[in-house]
Amino acid sequence: MAKKLWGGRFQKETDPLLEKFSRSIQYDHKLAQYDLFGSMAHVQILKKAKYLTHAEAGKLNKALGSLYALVLKGEFKYDHKAEDIHTDIQNKLLAIAGDLALKLHTARSRNDQVVFAVKTYCKAELAKTVVMVRRLQDALYAVAKSNNDLVLPGFTHMQHAQPIIAKDYIKAYAQMLDRDISRFTGISDSIKLTMGSGALAGTPILSSAYNISISGIKISASFNSIDTVSDRDFVIEILSALSILGMHLSRLAEDLIIWSTKEFDFIEIDEAFCTGSSLMPNKKNADSLELIRGRTGTLYGNLVSVLTMMKALPLSYNRDMQCDKEPLFSSIELAIDELGIMVGLVSTLKFNKVKIEEHLEDESLYATDIVYYLVDRGVPFKTAHTIVGKLVKHSIDSGIDIKSMSQIELDKFSMKLDREDILKLFNPKVSVESKRSIARK
Ligand code: ARG
Repeated sequence: MAKKLWGGRFQKETDPLLEKFSRSIQYDHKLAQYDLFGSMAHVQILKKAKYLTHAEAGKLNKALGSLYALVLKGEFKYDHKAEDIHTDIQNKLLAIAGDLALKLHTARSRNDQVVFAVKTYCKAELAKTVVMVRRLQDALYAVAKSNNDLVLPGFTHMQHAQPIIAKDYIKAYAQMLDRDISRFTGISDSIKLTMGSGALAGTPILSSAYNISISGIKISASFNSIDTVSDRDFVIEILSALSILGMHLSRLAEDLIIWSTKEFDFIEIDEAFCTGSSLMPNKKNADSLELIRGRTGTLYGNLVSVLTMMKALPLSYNRDMQCDKEPLFSSIELAIDELGIMVGLVSTLKFNKVKIEEHLEDESLYATDIVYYLVDRGVPFKTAHTIVGKLVKHSIDSGIDIKSMSQIELDKFSMKLDREDILKLFNPKVSVESKRSIARK
């Protein structure tokens, strides 16, 4: 049994089932680097407060540094039997630095230690997430650029609407990702790294001793120790922002899935991002996108899980809060993986221009342009809308394309419909170029 960080007042062993049930090391070992970083900062503070001599601080820092190096090399082996990573690190320090390690817990509680480690982890992971989101934006911009002149049928309600510029469509996702980045950086900036909360009531160390900077990272004394150990708002904010990112990725996935069907055939997804069927040899399925869409449920679930866990907790720390970590780690890791897959998939996307041109032959896509044409010739918009609506209906019922209708036939709908002019409107380029309201970046 691994040594615990508590136990003096206990005469009985912990129930074995509770021992297993309460353990968090199987997931919070991911905080090792950040717990060690926090301990190095704490050593600096203890030295300032004269709880540690210069030599003692040096010895503890060396021991902490050796463990830190192991984590960075991926060689840190955590003890599966320890209660959590904080206990494990304390035990390992004891083995390296002897009884001096017992001084490290001076004026410190895991309540403060945990929240500090989680906050540091969050800042580091948010920075990685932003890098990945930017990569996806770059991939989207590259596809947009290489399909500069491409026009697509645009949809509302999943029905043909109006022609649109393909790069506008692709860049719409890049815009959403811009807002995701703002959310992530905003949350990261709002997370302040503080120490000195103790278990909840503060510590005997002067608040000014907590103003330190370690590896360029600023730490200060907590403004409110009770709030610090009780608060997990930042976890909820991150899970919420990751849910929104997941929703954006899921919509992109959905669009690409639809576009890759035989019925649409707008795009070709690289085989590296597809899988086959064990029964149907013809199948090339965009499973990568389906999984990105499907795992949005995990992202939302993680958010709801932490919101629910927190909703009725009295201040201050309660063990329930240990349950914030699995959802947090799960969402961050999932989002980073999804972004990585999406970058690869988007970078290899090919548009099927011939097929898209066939789709663009649908006359209904240009109905609104005929309305604008009539408006330019003095017809009130609502009247023009009705005229073109009747024209479209007649075309559907009679099976005659508007393009094939004679001037006499067009005159029945409006004397202002000049056949020569109308024929020029059934052109994707003309249609998109006539839209001048967009202040493109
Ligand atoms: N593993 C625990 C957590 O993550 C550590 C905190 C335990 N604190 C305590 N006072 N029992 O929340």
